[in-house]
Amino acid sequence: MVLNGVCSRCAVMAVVAFGVVAIQAAEVARYDNYRLYRVTPQSEEQLKVVAAMEQASDSLIFLETARKVGDRFDIVVAPHKLADFTETLEADYIPHLVIDENVQSSFDQERIRLSNKRAKGTFDWNDYHTLEEIHAWLDKLASEHSEVELLDAGRSHQNRTLKGVKLSYGEGRPGVFIEGGIHAREWISPATVTYILNELVNSEDAQVRAL
Ligand SMILES: *[C@@H]1O[C@H](CO)[C@@H](O)[C@H](O)[C@H]1NC(C)=O
Repeated sequence: MVLNGVCSRCAVMAVVAFGVVAIQAAEVARYDNYRLYRVTPQSEEQLKVVAAMEQASDSLIFLETARKVGDRFDIVVAPHKLADFTETLEADYIPHLVIDENVQSSFDQERIRLSNKRAKGTFDWNDYHTLEEIHAWLDKLASEHSEVELLDAGRSHQNRTLKGVKLSYGEGRPGVFIEGGIHAREWISPATVTYILNELVNSEDAQVRAL
């Protein structure tokens, strides 16, 4: 009885673990031989032609969308769409150039660069940082500066810790509340808040620290 119980639990755990691995592997999309193009329409007609492509195909990923003539579209094009895509542009003499021959290899290089940087424990404001890295940086800042106090602001929808920081150089001063990281994907927002925090704590300009 006991043995049976143990074994069936083992099986369930194994299935759950396998399921998680499968989901993680499936989540990382690959973009082998996808090309990045920069397309710059020179007339209203050309603008319409390119804008219409965005609606027509899932194999074109628009990163930057032109609003007016002379603005650029940055478009990632799947390998099987390359011929169609360039034919359409050439038929209408729409200026375009290849920015990246293989988006996946750029992603791979970026990943290697970032993992080397992570291994060194560098924290700066030039790259994306994970929540764990941001939290570790906040913990370190609080441990090194008595004016920095960490607050527990509860848990996120996905049950992650929401860290708050109180920075105070003395009583009786006006308070300023700064919030960032509310929307997913907008990584510039936590970067902005941590940048301001870092300036207030570490700036070489005494007037900034005195704010
Ligand atoms: C959220 O995470 C905490 C800490 O890891 C844990 O104790 C708690 O059970 C989790 N809550 C839910 C709803 O998963």
